[in-house]
Amino acid sequence: MTNYRVFAGWMPGLLVLGLLQACSEQFDPWHQDANTGRWYTQALVAQGQQVYQSHCASCHGAKAEATPQWIKPDADGLYPPPPLNGTAHAWHHPFPMLKKTINEGTSGRMPAWQDKLSDAEVDAVIAWFQSLWPDQGYLIWQRRHKH
Ligand code: HEC
Repeated sequence: MTNYRVFAGWMPGLLVLGLLQACSEQFDPWHQDANTGRWYTQALVAQGQQVYQSHCASCHGAKAEATPQWIKPDADGLYPPPPLNGTAHAWHHPFPMLKKTINEGTSGRMPAWQDKLSDAEVDAVIAWFQSLWPDQGYLIWQRRHKH
């Protein structure tokens, strides 16, 4: 009986551990794909390019290079679409934050995509623009996640 109670007391803790495990298995920024050396596969990057060209290129530029003057707000005090190619600050944001911005948009002019893109498509588009990042930016971004 006593043993049973001790075990029951541990149950919620075990459940939380299990959930954390499940989450970290879903996305691992430290995973090294055999071909890309990064968390994503080449196939995911190819899928992401399609998503990007259809939905994002009109604002962020065909090569994710727009807008060069991304630091300057417009007359309304709103910021233009920043480059996602590693020259602006997308690499400051850990994966969950990038996903949140894409899914929910911002109070500025970035639209929300959660009703238009699947979870897998959002992952793919992130993989695509990350494939443009130089290794140094990628490494700094990687270190923003806990091991
Ligand atoms: C209508 C124009 C528009 C479209 C289309 C658009 N964006 Fe944006 N995006 C913006 C603007 C403007 C910002 C800056 C928002 C702000 O500062 O509030 C932004 C910001 C972002 C950021 C944050 C970057 C950073 O450095 O903090 C990411 C990531 C992003 N967009 C990804 C995407 C992706 C992926 C798509 C396509 C699925 C997309 N955007 C489509 C206008 C757009």
